[in-house]
Amino acid sequence: MFNHAAAIVRETEVFIITAGAGMGVDSGLPDFRGDHGFWKAYPAYSRLGLSFADCANPQHFAHDPSFAWGFYGHRTNLYRTVIPHEGFHIIKEWIARNGANCFVVTSNVDGQFQKAGYAEDRILEVHGSIHWLQCQKPCRNAIWVNDEIVRIDETTMRAFPPLPRCPDCGEVSRPNILMFGDWAWQQDRTLKQEQAFNRFLMHNADRRIAVIEIGAGSAIATIRATSERIGWNCEHATVIRINPREPEIISPHISLPYTALEAVQKINALL
Ligand SMILES: NC(=O)c1ccc[n+]([C@@H]2O[C@H](COP(=O)([O-])OP(=O)(O)OC[C@H]3O[C@@H](n4cnc5c(N)ncnc54)[C@H](O)[C@@H]3O)[C@@H](O)[C@H]2O)c1
Ligand SMILES: [Zn+2]
Repeated sequence: MFNHAAAIVRETEVFIITAGAGMGVDSGLPDFRGDHGFWKAYPAYSRLGLSFADCANPQHFAHDPSFAWGFYGHRTNLYRTVIPHEGFHIIKEWIARNGANCFVVTSNVDGQFQKAGYAEDRILEVHGSIHWLQCQKPCRNAIWVNDEIVRIDETTMRAFPPLPRCPDCGEVSRPNILMFGDWAWQQDRTLKQEQAFNRFLMHNADRRIAVIEIGAGSAIATIRATSERIGWNCEHATVIRINPREPEIISPHISLPYTALEAVQKINALL
């Protein structure tokens, strides 16, 4: 299994890294797998009986902005301070060693690939990024860099004032990420990234492609579907699915039931 994966990595001309929340777990970030996983990461919401979907609702920015910014401010602070684990760097070495092309497709909003030194114009963030803000209304289509400092009371998970605001209309602002039941998400940035990715795929479709899928869950299966679509549609593409709990994929694609760092290190040892 690892020998096969190493042989694919050694030969590949194009790396497509598809990543879900599991990619960050070995850096110390929580995934939100099931209510149990979410409540373990956020005991305050467990006490309130609120799920991830309950918290990730854009209506809170209008009705209870201190609650909304408690959740997103906490995550912003966490994603700013965390250091990407070694697996990010090992994969970068594979790309450099092969002189290969690379693109990242992720549902993570945490900006960890940029932090690990992956090129900004080779990343598709399908659900947006917490490091960008928009107006909650929105009063216009603008988005801007999130350089806000938000302080949180970690027992209540509520944010202290002042809360981030839209520079145009003065309304409370919100992260430029797709939430549940979200009609106000400004998706131009993601659409531009998507166009860049489609161009990349068109140019590289006939080459030897390794899709390295890491920590993508099946509950919201966007990332898994992207990997599989490339795996089945491109003749010389192989998907390597790294996931300790739900690694299933049909052969000739490769299933590695290990954590991100462990799997990447084991492949690396065989190169
Ligand atoms: N860091 C983030 O940006 C972040 C974190 C949590 C959730 N989200 C959002 O939540 C939604 C659900 O995302 P999801 O399906 O990726 O998350 P998920 O929490 O549903 O699933 C995480 C997956 O990672 C796997 N996993 C757990 N530990 C791992 C490890 N150490 N190494 C590799 N894999 C591991 C799990 O088996 C699971 O399949 C997405 O829309 C995403 O935007 C984002
Ligand atoms: Zn506004």
